Amino acid sequence: MAHGHKSNEKVVYVGDSRVKKSNHPNIPPDYTSFPGKSEAFIPNFLLKEWMVGCVVLVGFLTWVIAEPAPLGYPADPTNAAFIPMPDWYFLFLYQFLKYPYVSQDYILLGTMGVPGVMFGALMLAPFLDTGKERRFYRRPIASSLMILSLIACVYLTVISWDHYTHQLEINGQVPEHHEREEKAREAAEAGHERPNYTKPAVEASLVDANDPAMDIAKQAQCVGCHAADLKGQGNAPGLVGVGDRLTKEQLVDVVTNGRGGMPAFADTLSAEEIDQLSTWLSKQKAATE
Ligand code: HEC
Repeated sequence: MAHGHKSNEKVVYVGDSRVKKSNHPNIPPDYTSFPGKSEAFIPNFLLKEWMVGCVVLVGFLTWVIAEPAPLGYPADPTNAAFIPMPDWYFLFLYQFLKYPYVSQDYILLGTMGVPGVMFGALMLAPFLDTGKERRFYRRPIASSLMILSLIACVYLTVISWDHYTHQLEINGQVPEHHEREEKAREAAEAGHERPNYTKPAVEASLVDANDPAMDIAKQAQCVGCHAADLKGQGNAPGLVGVGDRLTKEQLVDVVTNGRGGMPAFADTLSAEEIDQLSTWLSKQKAATE
């Protein structure tokens, strides 16, 4: 509109015969053809989207700050019994790779070939399937392929989880996160505070460090493996707080007969010395005062 001019002249557009009218059926009318029913994408719509995005982000931030995500337990490279599992949404691929013709010698087929064809087909679907029909029951090929893939994914996921729980059962294992979940549930039921693994454990120290039993521990070379302060090193666990884990009878048994990498001391120490050591070790409880 011209500045400051009030024109009552009617503007008439005349066609230019040199410009061909485009008869493209695929180009929808511009949004201005729907006054009041639509709006410009830039800036109106985009601004609204951004505003909603900001609110959601701030909400998320507040939530994350109020309720920090727990740390997972530390990885233990010496734990050979650990069964690594992918996140649930990859379980179907994980299970798929267990089958003979997509693993071992055919691993390339399993990791690149089949998934490549599947995901490639999904990406090329708009070009492969150009039919105008929208109703799924009128598109038997596309629909049945989709339903088949869905069924396969659900089936493989379920089977994979089934294998996993079965394997745990055979090994008699309880994964650490299950254990923690169980402990949290027990704590909640008993009305205690939920165990917090992100808090560093209170630095414990030996109870009665000057007890004569400590001299036995030094002479018998317990300190060689369990460290001079008995806090453990390498495979030998710390003995500080061992009284929380084992009773005196169990301590006598471990020291007398050994266990795993722990040698037996039946021949090296007298029953009396073992008794004295075990009595002292059973007093090693993590300081709670
Ligand atoms: C050769 C190294 C070595 C020596 C020496 C040794 N230990 Fe051990 N001890 C170990 C190892 C390794 C373990 C873990 C065993 C296992 O995993 O079952 C262990 C475990 C233990 C446990 C069980 C701890 C727990 O949390 O279950 C106790 C108690 C113990 N030792 C006490 C002693 C005492 C007391 C002596 C000295 C008389 C001693 N150890 C000497 C290597 C040693």
